[in-house]
This record gives sequence, C-alpha cells and structure tokens, in this order.
Amino acid sequence: MEHALYGPDGFYRRGEWSGAHFRTSPQVGTAFGTAIARLACGLGLSRILEVGAGRGELLHAVHASDPTLQLHGIDLTPRPALPPEAGWTTGRYRPGDRLPAGFDHQSLVVAHEWLDVIPVDVVCGTAHGPRLVLVDPLTGRERLGPPPGSSDAAWLRRWWSPLGVGDRAEVGRARDAAWAGLVGSVSQGLVLAVDYTHRRESRPTGGSLAAYRGHRQITPVADGSADLTAHVAVDALAAAGRRAGSPPPVLVTQSVALRALRVRSTVAAAPPVAAAPPDAPLTLRRLVAEAEVRELTALDGLGRFTWLAQASTPELHDTARRLLTGRSPNGR
Ligand SMILES: C[S@@+](CC[C@H](N)C(=O)[O-])C[C@H]1O[C@@H](n2cnc3c(N)ncnc32)[C@H](O)[C@@H]1O
Repeated sequence: MEHALYGPDGFYRRGEWSGAHFRTSPQVGTAFGTAIARLACGLGLSRILEVGAGRGELLHAVHASDPTLQLHGIDLTPRPALPPEAGWTTGRYRPGDRLPAGFDHQSLVVAHEWLDVIPVDVVCGTAHGPRLVLVDPLTGRERLGPPPGSSDAAWLRRWWSPLGVGDRAEVGRARDAAWAGLVGSVSQGLVLAVDYTHRRESRPTGGSLAAYRGHRQITPVADGSADLTAHVAVDALAAAGRRAGSPPPVLVTQSVALRALRVRSTVAAAPPVAAAPPDAPLTLRRLVAEAEVRELTALDGLGRFTWLAQASTPELHDTARRLLTGRSPNGR
C-alpha cells in the first residue's frame, strides 16, 4: 500500500485527483465547507489547516463562506488554484512534523478522508495466530507471510481481537501515530477527522481494504493504478488522541454533525417547481442546494461517515460537543 500510493510512481505521488476516482463530501458542493467554517467560527478559531487537502475543494468552499478565515493546505500535489491569501505546502506530512507557522495554535485542523489512505498492513488469522498477508504488486496474488512484529501484534490484541481463522484485519498503528501527531501539535485548537470507520464491537471480519478507480470499486491491486483505502479504527484513534493530551473525543455521524451545524434540508421552503418560471434561477439554486444536503446526509452514503473531534482544552471540547451534537455538556 505504501509503495502503491506513495512510491516513485505511486497513485498519490503521481498527483492523481481523488475526484476522478471517487466522490468526497467537499466535492459535492459548498455546503460541507460552509459547515466547517461555522464550526471554526463557533469555536472562536480563525485558522483552518487541512492535511491531505487534495485539490483544495474544501478550502475553496470555506473561503467562499467566510473570507476572513486564514487557510492552509498540505498535500503531495502541487498547489491547486486557491485564493491567493491561502497557504499551501507541497509535501508529505509525517507525525512529528511541525505544522505551518501559526497553524499550531488556535486552529481547526481537518483530516478529511486522509487517515483511510495512510498505509496499513493486512493480517490474516490462522490456527497459529495472525500472519501478514503478502501481495504480488502486479497480479494481486496473495500468500501468507511471517507473524506481524511485536508492536503490531500488541495493537491487534488490543483493538482487533479475537481474529478467527481466515478473518482479516488491518493494523491501524500508523494511523494512530499520524492522528496523535496532529492532536499533540495544536494548542488551543481542535483536530477533526472525517472518515469511514469501525469500532471494536463491529470490525468487519473480512477486513475493509478496498480499491477505487474511475468511480468503480475494483479488486485491490498494489500496482499504483488505483486508490487503496481501508476503514479507520476510530476507537483506537481516539485513544491515541487522548494519550496525546486531548480530553475525551466528540464522535458523531456526519448527518448529525451537519444538521447541528445548520446544513439542513430546505425543501419545505422551496417553491413548487410548477410555479417556477418567474424565479426559475432561484428555484433551480434551491433544488441544487437541496440535492447537495441530501447527498451529504444520506444514511446509506456520506451521512454515515464519522466525525471525530479532539480538542486541546476541556472548554473547546465542550463547545465542539455542543456545536456538533446540538446538545450542551449537561446533556440538554
Ligand atoms: C482521499 S484524498 C482526499 C482529498 C480531500 N481531503 C477530499 O476529501 O476531497 C487523500 C489525499 O491525501 C493526500 N495525502 C496522503 N497522505 C498524505 C500525507 N502524509 N501528507 C499530505 N497529504 C497526504 C493524498 O495525496 C490525497 O490528495
């Protein structure tokens, strides 16, 4: 996965645009960016950093919603077309790296569909314990290799067990380290991951490694021709964030978070299409906005994504919880 995505001719190293292969929430339209801008403003934060910012769709939408916010993106790809005042770093963020100047304090740091493309090793349960799954990069043919190293084995025992014979799991240690790196780098701020996830009580027994190319899900091949992704063990991440000094996490689905941030269906307010001619552009805009909200909140699609927010202070935690759930810390 490391070689296929980030090796010399790797999928992301080559600068592939995710939007050519699958659709992410920032690519749906501007409503997602509006919600992120509202979250930052509600927290009293004036800076937003996106790690794994792709072609900058999210930063664009945030800027359109609130041009006063300071923005910065990091990605392997060269700077995309962005508002001139937005900052950009071309490179690969690694845990322990310093965040761009100013964005390590009083900032909202966003990892949108980033953690799921941090490489994982796949293991398979056998009668003699877990074994690494080795894969031929060109044919995709698999065979069992040695047992995972002791740190990975400990991670599996803690977060992905029992592992039955023939079951598969993905070792999330590198994701935990990346997440802890971000959480530990920001003071007086909030780090937000949005991704597809699972928890200990509901791990997929066959694992979740998947590949996408040209808007189709295909059999995973490690030849660099496709995106490779695996769902994120969100409970392990949250524990890593706590070890990095954060209060307990705020965990909500995207559909809950967006409604709490007032990204809501407005169809009741839209005039009937039959009455459209005098204000057809307005009607059309409302219908487009309505379709966007429905796509972002659909419970069989993007609305099921998890938002994991970890703050650097208890006060920011309480505010984030209120903003993302619509409930105050005492539950009302
Ligand atoms: C699935 S795409 C998501 C893009 C965008 N956030 C979105 O949701 O539309 C993941 C992006 O993360 C970038 N990426 C992966 N690892 C990275 C790292 N360590 N540092 C910076 N960017 C990274 C890839 O180049 C790719 O553009």
